[in-house]
Amino acid sequence: MVKQAMLPLLSVLFICFTPKSLAGTPNTYNVVDLGARPDGRTDSAKAFTSAWTAACGSDSAATVYVPPGRYLVQKADFAGKCRNSAITFRMDGTLVAPSDYRVANAGSWILFHGVDGVTLSGGTLDGQGSALWDCKAAGGSCPVGAASLVFDNSNNININGLISLNSQRFHVVIHGCQNVMVQGVTVSAPGSSPNTDGIHVQRSSGVTILDAHIGTGDDCISIGPGTNNLLIEDVICGPGHGISIGSLGSNQQEPGVQNVTVKTAVIRGAMNGVRIKTWGKPSNAFVKDVHFQHVTVTDVQNPIIIDQNYCPGNRNCPGQACFLTNNSGVKISDVTYQDIHGTSATEVGVKFDCSRSNPCSGLILDGVKLTYMNKPAEGYCLYAGVQVEDVQATNCLQS
Ligand SMILES: *[C@@H]1O[C@H](CO)[C@@H](O)[C@H](O)[C@H]1NC(C)=O
Ligand SMILES: *[C@@H]1O[C@H](CO)[C@@H](O)[C@H](O)[C@H]1NC(C)=O
Repeated sequence: MVKQAMLPLLSVLFICFTPKSLAGTPNTYNVVDLGARPDGRTDSAKAFTSAWTAACGSDSAATVYVPPGRYLVQKADFAGKCRNSAITFRMDGTLVAPSDYRVANAGSWILFHGVDGVTLSGGTLDGQGSALWDCKAAGGSCPVGAASLVFDNSNNININGLISLNSQRFHVVIHGCQNVMVQGVTVSAPGSSPNTDGIHVQRSSGVTILDAHIGTGDDCISIGPGTNNLLIEDVICGPGHGISIGSLGSNQQEPGVQNVTVKTAVIRGAMNGVRIKTWGKPSNAFVKDVHFQHVTVTDVQNPIIIDQNYCPGNRNCPGQACFLTNNSGVKISDVTYQDIHGTSATEVGVKFDCSRSNPCSGLILDGVKLTYMNKPAEGYCLYAGVQVEDVQATNCLQS
């Protein structure tokens, strides 16, 4: 009874004080109060930087608030080391990149580096990449382009509910980070847009990607050298190039990839389902302890693929390495494929094209059911040690 009587009073208090207290909450820095213009045309980068500087200099937890509206941000660079490790970007608005791709350069558009304890909640990033894609398609000399959101050398990061649209290049990059949660992120770019990977993880440990919905022109999620303890769960991919470990082994000295789990993924209308891709040249890199579980593919060209002969146009492979074909130095071991099913868009559903000098070892297929035109898809294996369990496929994969 007492509780019920209290409720109306509380709601009145809430209604009366909410607007004021939100604006005046200590340690909340509203970018509009600091000069940002939600008109989509006026460069608001300075206001964002001011808000960050204030939040970063605060002795206690702080919030940067981005109200609804479109904010043109030419380029933003948010650096540590802050006086607190609990900064939240609460975004109800959209950040818009300059449509002139020559403006945002240096590889990234919204960059956080050396930060600790940053949460990015909600919001939309509109990379306006189409002019650069057109330039690339026309074959002119175009800049590489900027990744929309980059976390570099940062720890304890939480990105949730973000929408990233039409990046010039990669949409979200996690590089040199530890303990990162990426949850409920949506990425959207046309299937024809070049190098627009959804989420790229590299040289990072303890990254979790949950509930992602990604359609792009390149990898849905790409996993680069030096990635450890990565969990990807509940993702929907397509169009694009699927979930990809690699390319690895482009350098002689390169950290390996270890302990990656991909669990419950749906991949539709993509070039690949789950892929491991390495350059066909010497390297000390490796891939081990990888688990692909519960993956549904629909109309995917290479549902399961290991390609160790990557050497586009047989160029960029220094020395003679590429003439010694099938000679990738990258050692691939202990990769399990469990409950992978659906439809292949080509005859070969499982392709293991491994290195002659470093054959794949410990590949386990368990419950793989892939069809091509209503018949079991084929398997193709070269230099691969495969153990099969309950696999519906022909050729090298017959159990
Ligand atoms: C592997 O990574 C997961 C996170 O995906 C982590 O919980 C687990 O402890 C790691 N295993 C090892 C042996 O490091
Ligand atoms: C090298 O790999 C290709 C497939 O990528 C295969 O056709 C060829 O037979 C392999 N060559 C050797 C020498 O193993």
